[in-house]
Amino acid sequence: MQGPNSEKIKKMFGSIASGYDSANTVLSGGIHHIWKKDVVQASGVQPGFRVLDCATGTGDLAFEFKKAVGSNGQVTATDFCEEMLAIAEQKSKDKNIPLITEIADVTNLKFPDASFDICSIAFGIRNVSDPLKALSEMARVVRPGGKVMVLEFGQPTIPVFKQAYNFYSRFILPQIGGAITGQPSAYRYLQESSSEFPCREMFVKLMKQTEKFEAYSYRTLSGGIAYIYSGTVTRNRFV
Ligand SMILES: C[S@@+](CC[C@H](N)C(=O)[O-])C[C@H]1O[C@@H](n2cnc3c(N)ncnc32)[C@H](O)[C@@H]1O
Repeated sequence: MQGPNSEKIKKMFGSIASGYDSANTVLSGGIHHIWKKDVVQASGVQPGFRVLDCATGTGDLAFEFKKAVGSNGQVTATDFCEEMLAIAEQKSKDKNIPLITEIADVTNLKFPDASFDICSIAFGIRNVSDPLKALSEMARVVRPGGKVMVLEFGQPTIPVFKQAYNFYSRFILPQIGGAITGQPSAYRYLQESSSEFPCREMFVKLMKQTEKFEAYSYRTLSGGIAYIYSGTVTRNRFV
């Protein structure tokens, strides 16, 4: 599966970084914070765990994980866009929630094998040029039995709700996102990529293609607007 061009994506997120959080809050009515708490809960995270959040953007999922792992655990927040990561770093200081931050491309992670208990990505995987490579890398850096957690948009299936959501996301979302960030084309791209990205069993199939997971599950959020995918990293991979 081929994703978007990574240089264009990096530039696009650089151009919307300063308005990204405000646009998210207005466009989702704040519900993305609830979805992120759901990811943390579904991951089975424990105090003391080491978590890697990839494509962390402005860091919201990483902060939720840090609250769960406590002072004995650590959360490393990575992104390949400097402008987005700079906002995560500033928020970390403002909120007094310490994160380790690093510029990193999720398709080419520099961390050793099995160095984390959990690796997560929220609304990042559909923006990655090679999603299969990204999932494979995420699984590689997680210990056997640990979890890869993915939060991503998909397509609702419930009739009427589906039509209403499609109308909102096609005609209203790009206008509002564009007005807040000054980049309507970015919000047109974000809508179009969400409307096409494989979800449910199609995404699980992609996870299976990595051959790095022994178990998979997914959960539907808000009528199918978004999904949480979980993969348990194979325990006997080094045998
Ligand atoms: C829609 S934002 C999501 C940010 C954040 N996780 C959230 O939930 O709000 C997508 C992020 O993916 C990052 N990204 C896209 N491709 C990437 C890659 N190959 N490696 C690392 N980060 C990437 C972008 O820079 C951007 O910050």
